[in-house]
Amino acid sequence: MLKTLNISHSFDYELFKDVNLEVDKKEKIAIIGSSGSGKSTLLHILSTFLKPQSGEVFYEDKEIYSLKEKELIEIRRKEFGIIFQFHYLFNTFTALENLKAAALLAGTEIDENLLERLKIKDVINQNIQTLSGGQQQRVSIARVLTKRPKIIFADEPTGNLDKENANEVIDVLFEYCDEKNAALITVTHDLEIAKKFDKKFILKDKRLISWE
Ligand SMILES: Nc1ncnc2c1ncn2[C@@H]1O[C@H](COP(=O)(O)OP(=O)(O)O)[C@@H](O)[C@H]1O
Ligand SMILES: [Mg+2]
Repeated sequence: MLKTLNISHSFDYELFKDVNLEVDKKEKIAIIGSSGSGKSTLLHILSTFLKPQSGEVFYEDKEIYSLKEKELIEIRRKEFGIIFQFHYLFNTFTALENLKAAALLAGTEIDENLLERLKIKDVINQNIQTLSGGQQQRVSIARVLTKRPKIIFADEPTGNLDKENANEVIDVLFEYCDEKNAALITVTHDLEIAKKFDKKFILKDKRLISWE
């Protein structure tokens, strides 16, 4: 589904070199690494936001950074679901309005069951800015899943959550993948969370290494 070929990238210094990663349908992958190792940068590269200095990223056999801007945006909009470390919800709108906007753009319906699973049903008519950090994070996850993406990219999706809620959110993401044949690539510094994934990698000494 998604595959990289020898990705390398530097900012002020070289972050990583010759990263090769392959992700299939239903597969759940966790990437760990210390702060500053380049995890977020790698996720941006995988998810259409940053062209690597060298190497290629293939989505269903198409090299995404060779596509026309319009095609790239279509993939980002329709096929990929991206959960950033800092959510991008519309702050002056309610949670429900945010979900409705996502459903409208993607031509999907809001899944009531999802709202229940993410424990946001009772706060759905509140403005985003009146919700706690954890609630906002769960709304942003609901928003991304409402799009029905084929691959989910998540940067520290449980960063603002306590242990119980973190586990629950990961379970919701896993269930979504199993039901919809979707893949999940998550960046996390939480080893307990990483352990739940099918495949685990660590970004260390500029390399992406398989980790058990
Ligand atoms: N757009 C950018 N311009 C310059 N340096 C950046 C940029 N994005 C990230 N960096 C630097 O790259 C390094 C890795 O950042 P990041 O990918 O966010 O790591 P991680 O997510 O593992 O903490 C950091 O030193 C950061 O300052
Ligand atoms: Mg990061």
